[in-house]
Order: sequence, then structure tokens, then C-alpha cells
Amino acid sequence: MSIQKPKGTQDLLPGEIEKWQYVEAKARELCARFNYKEIRTPVFEHTELFQRGVGETTDIVEKEMYTFLDKGDRSISLRPEGTAGVVRAYVENKLYGEPDVNKLYYIGPMFRYEQPQAGRYRQFHQFGIEAFGSQDPAIDAEVIALGYTFYKELGLKEVTVEINSVGNPAVRAAYREHIQRFFAPVKDKLCKDCQSRFDRNPMRILDCKIDQKYGEGAPTIVEHLDEECSTHFQAVQNYLTAMDIPFRLNPRLVRGLDYYTHTAFEYKAGGIGAIDTIGGGGRYNGLVGQIGGQDQPGVGLGLGMERILLVLQAQGVDIPVPKPLDVYLVALGEAAEQACVKLLHDLRLAGLKAEKDYLGRKIKAQMKSADRYKAAYVAILGDDELARGEITVKAMATGEQETVALDAFVQTMQSRSRHV
Ligand code: HAM
Repeated sequence: MSIQKPKGTQDLLPGEIEKWQYVEAKARELCARFNYKEIRTPVFEHTELFQRGVGETTDIVEKEMYTFLDKGDRSISLRPEGTAGVVRAYVENKLYGEPDVNKLYYIGPMFRYEQPQAGRYRQFHQFGIEAFGSQDPAIDAEVIALGYTFYKELGLKEVTVEINSVGNPAVRAAYREHIQRFFAPVKDKLCKDCQSRFDRNPMRILDCKIDQKYGEGAPTIVEHLDEECSTHFQAVQNYLTAMDIPFRLNPRLVRGLDYYTHTAFEYKAGGIGAIDTIGGGGRYNGLVGQIGGQDQPGVGLGLGMERILLVLQAQGVDIPVPKPLDVYLVALGEAAEQACVKLLHDLRLAGLKAEKDYLGRKIKAQMKSADRYKAAYVAILGDDELARGEITVKAMATGEQETVALDAFVQTMQSRSRHV
């Protein structure tokens, strides 16, 4: 039997990959405008990084990590998300020593051992950004605005931004008690996961789909924010309003990762079955210190690439396709065939998108191939024409043909392609 790809992974083939390239190019272009610089970190890290960073009691670390011992008996995990690795790199490379706010972005694969469904994979890709070194609520708003602008400029309709404040550690510790008190009478009725969350991470019960009914009327963290937290949260909202970024307050929004403080947010859109969250992020003021660096505030987001593409498709948004071939070269005869190898190379060196036949096919099959590639021009070189120093150029859109001197061919095609 032939070998198949592992469950929850995808092959991205030509035809589909152009959409990825378009979305990735938009991410890079937007990051340039917002002044974020690219960072690339390893796809695997020491397991401890995610235990400390993402949190031991999160589903991600408890159940979903690809963890293995390498040949040196070190516990290694494939990264389940991007933030922890970027924070590690920020600390290890002492980027905190730089005078400006460090604004970084990444695009790459992440790995979570989850039950695959539409929009949920075991290898998926995130476009993420992280900004380090500033407490300013304007940066929280900038991060949210970048994600929103990204979706909007790609053509997504009806993206909703939901925001909440998850407070600072002191607020959360007090809120934790309120939540425990609230759920204590129904503790035994909660699902198995939530029973264990009750002691270890009670806020996550609010996020449980199964136990939603028990969460009705639960105290919200926003009601318990202290002055510092509410001032920060209000300022983020004011900035979003000033930038015309629509948002909805969701006091029940708790993210699946432990590192958040203050602002937490998610982007929602319809079109991928049961899943409606297409991206999320927030502020994480204690994380850099926890990973071992001198404490520095941070805020960022992660947007799922597969989910963006699924929503674009569901909403019927067209993605521009790359320009097809400029020239397809057809050779008739042995001498012409050989001459075409060099001509083709010259066309490419001149910046044109060009192709020829490599299967020894007859002219009709070669013309069909040119059609499949949607070539703007077909250039036909026979042995006789070669001897005369000429080549025939056919514009595929009009069917018009002309004879061009061979030594002016590349230049002629170059000026023609500029007008396509
Ligand atoms: P997250 O909410 O776990 O946050 O993931 C962000 C996004 O990644 C999700 O909204 C979703 O689009 C995508 N995603 C997550 N899991 C899967 C999956 N199994 N299959 C397909 N897509 C998935 C984080 O990862 C944080 N690091 C975001 C962040 C950055 N916060 C601060 N900075």
C-alpha cells in the first residue's frame, strides 16, 4: 500500500499554493507598513519552554503537544504556537537591550494533536505578531487593528472583533475565588475536564462548550477589574473607536493559553462549520520574566492561515492569480530545438516568464500546452527561420502573427510583455 500523509496534515499543491502566497505577501506587506520585522525561530523547542510559557494546565500543553525524546534524551516538542518561541528568542538574543519597541512577525507551521475537522488540523499555519517593551494601550489597539486590517484588505466580509480584559495577576487571583465559589455547587455535574479545571484553572470552565449551561450568570472578570486594569482596558477601547475598528465586548472571552494579562481578543467569522474563531491574541505582561528574561511587557496575535483561506472561499472572495506565461517557445526541427534552449534562457534572464516543451511533442500538442499555461505569446522557430535569422511571434489573444528578427526577439518580447 502506498504511504499517505499523517492525519490532520495537508499537501498544498500548485493551484492552491498561489492563494497562500497571496495571503502571505499581504501579511508581509502589512507588517512593513506597521513597522513589524520578521523573525524565524525553530519549529521545535525544549518542552519546558511551552510548559512554562503556554501553561501546564492548558489543553495545548496537557493534551495536544507533539513531544518526544531526541537521540540525546532531551524532551523536545514541536511548537504548538508561536509566542513562546519568539519570547525565548527575544530573551536569548537580548533584544530587550534595543532602544525601541521590538515589533516582530512570523509566518509558519504550528503543531497540535487535535481531533481534525474543518478548519482544525494537526499541522496548521499562523501569521503572528509580537510587540515587546511597551505598556501603552495604544500598542494593544495597534495589534488588534493590524489583524482587522489584514482580514479587511484580503476581502473578508463581516469579521467581528471581540475583546475582553483578563486583568492582572492580582485581579485574576481574586476572580478565581469568585469563580470557584460560583461553580462549587455544580462541581460534580461538570464535565471531567472542567472538574479538573476547577482547582487548576477555573476560568477555563467559562470557555467549555459542554458546561455552558452551568456558566450562565457567572461573575465576569470585567466586574472585578481594579483601577489600573479598567483604565488600560478603557484606553484600548477608545483607541479602537478612534481608528474606526468595530468591536464587541465579550466578558466571557478567556483564551486557551495561560499567559494573557489585560487585553484578550478574538476575531470571528462565519463559514467554517462549527468553528468561528479565525484569530486571537492579547497582552502578556509576565511572560518574558517567566521565560527567564528581565521583565518586559508584550502583546501580540496569531491568525490561522487555513481558516482565513477557508473563510475567503466560503465567502466567494476572489484571490488575484499570478500573471501567466509571457512566452511559450515552440521549436520545429533539431537545430531550432537546440537554439530554443538558449533563447528560452535569454528570455528568462530578461525577466520574462517563459517555457518550452521538453517532451518532444508535435506542434499541435505544444500549442495546447501554451494554451494551458495561458501564454500571452507563442514564438515558433523552425529550422528554415533559424537559417534566415527570424522567428514567428503569435499574440494568443488576437491570433495576430508577425515575423521578428532573431537578434531583436528578446527585446521585442520584453517591450510586448510590458503592455500585456
Ligand atoms: P490561539 O488562539 O491558540 O493563539 O491560536 C491562534 C489561531 O491559530 C486560532 O485563532 C486559529 O485561527 C489558529 N489555530 C489554532 N489551532 C488550530 C488548528 N488546530 N488548526 C487550524 N488552525 C488553528 C495562539 O496561538 C497565540 N500564540 C496567539 C498570540 C500571539 N497571542 C499573543 N501573541
